[in-house]
Amino acid sequence: MQSRDNILSGHSVQPMEAGDLDEILEIEQASFPRPWTRAMFEGELGNPVSVSYTLKVRPEEGKEEIGGYVVLWVVHGEAHILNIAVNPKYRGKGIATRLLVVMLELMRRNLVYEVFLEVRVSNTAARNLYGKFGFRESFVRKKYYGDEDAIVMVLDL
Ligand SMILES: CC(C)(COP(=O)(O)OP(=O)(O)OC[C@H]1O[C@@H](n2cnc3c(N)ncnc32)[C@H](O)[C@@H]1OP(=O)(O)O)[C@@H](O)C(=O)NCCC(=O)NCCS
Repeated sequence: MQSRDNILSGHSVQPMEAGDLDEILEIEQASFPRPWTRAMFEGELGNPVSVSYTLKVRPEEGKEEIGGYVVLWVVHGEAHILNIAVNPKYRGKGIATRLLVVMLELMRRNLVYEVFLEVRVSNTAARNLYGKFGFRESFVRKKYYGDEDAIVMVLDL
């Protein structure tokens, strides 16, 4: 099993491209009860307010894989994180943390003053992740996911 440092050594964070979507869809389907479709990701790639990045890892010499990805909308100084997921085999190794560090730095440089997102009440891993970055649990959107409430979490930059 790789250590946390190993999987991130040699990684890169770069804008999402159409050629990434096959791998992304596999991770997406393994990550969410209601996964996004290819058309939804394609829509984001053509959406001028959408900012989407992948983190690519090199688990072995000559091999590159998508470790995780994130999709945000940035509108009038507010960023909305719409999607973030990590390849199940690389979870718990700091990939989401690294993606968020890079995204928050990018947001600061673009004069974003507030970042928010919705998270399922039952999603302890994600709530802990955002909590580590100082996101505060602001309010509940009842039945946001149909079957479950969302907590809206907010970070002032
Ligand atoms: C949530 C998710 C993105 C975290 O990605 P990750 O790369 O495994 O997270 P990291 O390794 O960077 O962990 C960062 C912090 O998140 C929290 N965390 C991550 N996995 C956790 C788990 N299984 N249980 C509890 N807390 C967890 C911890 O606070 C951790 O900090 P620590 O390592 O100091 O304890 C990943 O579990 C995932 O893809 N889940 C499915 C998709 C999803 O729920 N996305 C979020 C939608 S709002």
